[in-house]
Amino acid sequence: MKISVIGCGYLGAVHAACMADLGHDVVGIDVDPAKIAQLASGVAPFFEPGLSALLASSLATGRLRFSTDVSDAAGAAVHFVAVGTPQLGDSYAADLRYVDAAISSLLPHLAPGDLVAGKSTVPVGTAERLAAIVEGAGARLAWNPEFLREGYAVKDTLSPDRLVYGVRQGDEASVAALDELYAATISRGTPRVVTDFATAELVKVAANAFLATKISFINAMAEVAEATGADVTQLADAIGYDARIGRRFLNAGLGFGGGCLPKDIRGFMARAEELGVDQALGFLREVDSINLRRRERMVDLAREVCGGDVAGKRIAVLGLAFKPDSDDVRDSPALDVAARLAELGAVVRATDPEAIETSRRLRPTLDYVATAEEAAEGADAVLVLTEWAQYRELDPVQLGSVVGTRAIVDGRNCLDPVAWRAAGWHYRALGRP
Ligand code: UGA
Repeated sequence: MKISVIGCGYLGAVHAACMADLGHDVVGIDVDPAKIAQLASGVAPFFEPGLSALLASSLATGRLRFSTDVSDAAGAAVHFVAVGTPQLGDSYAADLRYVDAAISSLLPHLAPGDLVAGKSTVPVGTAERLAAIVEGAGARLAWNPEFLREGYAVKDTLSPDRLVYGVRQGDEASVAALDELYAATISRGTPRVVTDFATAELVKVAANAFLATKISFINAMAEVAEATGADVTQLADAIGYDARIGRRFLNAGLGFGGGCLPKDIRGFMARAEELGVDQALGFLREVDSINLRRRERMVDLAREVCGGDVAGKRIAVLGLAFKPDSDDVRDSPALDVAARLAELGAVVRATDPEAIETSRRLRPTLDYVATAEEAAEGADAVLVLTEWAQYRELDPVQLGSVVGTRAIVDGRNCLDPVAWRAAGWHYRALGRP
């Protein structure tokens, strides 16, 4: 099928490359000429495992191209809208200006019968409003949320857990178009939920709200564990054996960040307030607070291992990305903690396998070094803030030979306390004795 993808950020770039890989004829469109130039030359504008290879192979087939000109969307049968919906600067609500701009720029190029498929995460009610505009041009609208995770974006797009189509009641044509697009995925037995606009929009934010709640639940247990000498990692293992609970997303530590979970739960609360159902989502305020308290607790632990004050202390920060296998530092707990420690007068040396450049853009004054060993040289304390495989596999004996003091705080519960203590380290972690 001929398709266009409006917005080539994380979501759009991956979606465009994956749709071409599935055999469709795809044009990816973005207003940022630098991003389009990179994508067109087969370079992923951000770190995402497998994306550059997929771009290269899809570009080579001639089925994938990129453009800054939205008129290149003309002639496609399906137009995906995959632009960002960040949090507004002055409130919890989502900023819909990019979605609105995408729809209005697309409008003159729509042919009757075209399908506009929304992928962006939007407040419930947005699709209904946009459908009226799109239908005015004789086209149709569907909401087709995306559930990809950074770091696994290609795999999640090609093999999703489920497909969700929000369509107008009785709009068989849109369902048929999406089925044709995702035929390869559906033939592998991927469940597909066909529903109305509001449900489709809600599925997306409800999923992220649930995941955020799961993380904050275990981090709340970590707070209790810290007060009682219990071990939250064993607690998570034990409750996780109950299939009704499940072990995934029960990793206690520094909490969630990134471009999705934090802003999505806040946007959800803002929308609930507008709808007069804010009480229903009151718990998300607590989820957010628990999450942010973890960062404070991490700073407290750093202070503790530094003997009560971090001012003038050399602190090695290992990990800046909001999670491993990503260079994304949007609302990253790790970068936030590094910056707070620097503000408190600590001499912070930070490193990350992929996120130094993205961190530098947000926090230009932090001191960045290339490796964990350089960061740790002469350090009074080492903090592991993102659980990259490189840091999980660090040798405590070898690292112990470069630091000033063998003190480590494991912000992601990703190290073996027994091995580190055996190598003479003072080991502290969030939610563990
Ligand atoms: C999240 C969702 O998982 C995706 O399904 C969704 O499509 C995406 O948002 C989106 O809305 O676009 P992502 O932001 O890539 O994906 O990251 P996650 O893997 O969900 O991790 C989010 C944060 O939670 C990270 O900071 C991670 O370190 C933290 N986390 C995760 C924990 O602290 N503990 C855990 O057990 C799991």
